[in-house]
Amino acid sequence: MFGASGKLGGEYLNERNLKLSLASNVNDIINLTGKVAVITGSATDDGIGLAIARLFIKCGAKVAMLDLADKKPVEKATQFDQNARGYVCDVTDQTQCQNVVSRIAEDFGRIDILANNAGIVFGTRFSDIGSDEYDRVMDVNLRGNFNMSQAVVPHLRRIGGGTIVCISSIAGQVGGGLFGSSHYAASKGGIFSLTKALARELAPENIRVNAIAPGVIDNNFTKGRMTREIKDEIAAKIPMGRLGSSQDIAKCCLFLASDLSSYVNGAILDVNGGLHIH
Ligand SMILES: NC(=O)c1ccc[n+]([C@@H]2O[C@H](COP(=O)([O-])OP(=O)(O)OC[C@H]3O[C@@H](n4cnc5c(N)ncnc54)[C@H](O)[C@@H]3O)[C@@H](O)[C@H]2O)c1
Repeated sequence: MFGASGKLGGEYLNERNLKLSLASNVNDIINLTGKVAVITGSATDDGIGLAIARLFIKCGAKVAMLDLADKKPVEKATQFDQNARGYVCDVTDQTQCQNVVSRIAEDFGRIDILANNAGIVFGTRFSDIGSDEYDRVMDVNLRGNFNMSQAVVPHLRRIGGGTIVCISSIAGQVGGGLFGSSHYAASKGGIFSLTKALARELAPENIRVNAIAPGVIDNNFTKGRMTREIKDEIAAKIPMGRLGSSQDIAKCCLFLASDLSSYVNGAILDVNGGLHIH
């Protein structure tokens, strides 16, 4: 790009120096050493939350793994890594979110990153959705993002800023359709709006807020809801010819949580292999 030598940022660089300089910069940019990340819904094997925890730890972070009691997040985190600590937290409960986040801040001394990942899905047809199921989907998927963001923001403020990444869904863009029904799609669409509003309001405080819209991910979420044949049919419609993995989403979460995305705020990152190009 620069030929044998070139001028970059006022400095002359030959190709070897340029490669070295880019390598060390990239390492610095994704280095999360000293940072603490809170990840909701992260104690399920094969899940996106656990993949985020694994990748963040690889990049040097310490992680607080939150999940429902029956997912045993405390035990899971202990077995998982010495840089992980587990907490029982139902994201629908505002008081629980506030208390758990305060405990995390005490245990780790700071909070830098929040990944709002907890979510549930039902494929119930519109006319059959009862109010309990509607409330549950909205409470976990949308209110959960609100509760956790509200609990974490004062701690981000205290250290001069941070990042929030909300895991939404392609369903919020295209109106469900694959296995999520209308309430799921609405809750995920709500996450996009919440993300944009928080991004706008919190940017002056150096807090960036972004969302990811995963396509169809081949993990526990789809297990039991889709047969191999259905997955193959969907894969055939995806320009990249395959379903996504939890790791595919985790890598994009790292992008949005780290300095790699230093000027990205209020964005929705499509991670769907080209299934929805718009
Ligand atoms: N897998 C996919 O195809 C797909 C596609 C688009 C979006 N998503 C989204 O990705 C996120 C992660 O899903 P996943 O694929 O890893 O599935 P998953 O079921 O493995 O993960 C969801 C996690 O949320 C937890 N959870 C549920 N209710 C909770 C609550 N009230 N409080 C705290 N935690 C709760 C679950 O215990 C689980 O650990 C979800 O928000 C989901 O909507 C998944």
